[in-house]
Amino acid sequence: MEIGEVLITAEDIDAKLTEMGAAITRDYRGKDLLLIGILKGAFVVMADLSRHIDLPVEFDFMAVASYGSATKSSGVVRILKDLDQEIAGRHVLIVEDIVDTGLTLQYLLKNLEVRKPESLALAALLIKDGIDRPPLEVKYEGFHIPPKFVVGYGLDYDGKYRNLPYVAVMDDSE
Ligand code: IMP
Ligand code: MG
Repeated sequence: MEIGEVLITAEDIDAKLTEMGAAITRDYRGKDLLLIGILKGAFVVMADLSRHIDLPVEFDFMAVASYGSATKSSGVVRILKDLDQEIAGRHVLIVEDIVDTGLTLQYLLKNLEVRKPESLALAALLIKDGIDRPPLEVKYEGFHIPPKFVVGYGLDYDGKYRNLPYVAVMDDSE
């Protein structure tokens, strides 16, 4: 496996996060917003998106691992780190890097809804098209991409490439 074609440049990502941040700022003005980043992948999106949100937001993180191979998720999710705080009565926005099978988010939404937030919504930088997934409403979405394995901007292959400032396809042609 090696890094292939760049799908989304750093400039395109920044422009999109600027738009998403403006929409979030508009929608949550006057409300008390808690951003929840899903580790590890979302740490880059969280840092950059949040700096385009012009509100006094608070931050929390959850770390989850989905069992599976390096490039396929199984839908079985394990919580490695839970939230530090209660979310009952709060406006919560989950920040994710990518929606692939949607199984991680489906699990997280169910898990967090039980804690009775005032509102619960999703933001994701990337959405893979052409995937058969449970219905998920992504209120703030970045880019739709083909159903290929991608790396960069928080996304890893075998733990690496998260620090690439762009999103690229992984080539499996040996
Ligand atoms: P899910 O399949 O939507 O549950 O995705 C679970 C997690 O798998 C995502 O949050 C990512 O961390 C990771 N993932 C999904 N697709 C890719 C990819 O193309 N590259 C790197 N990681 C991915
Ligand atoms: Mg991953």
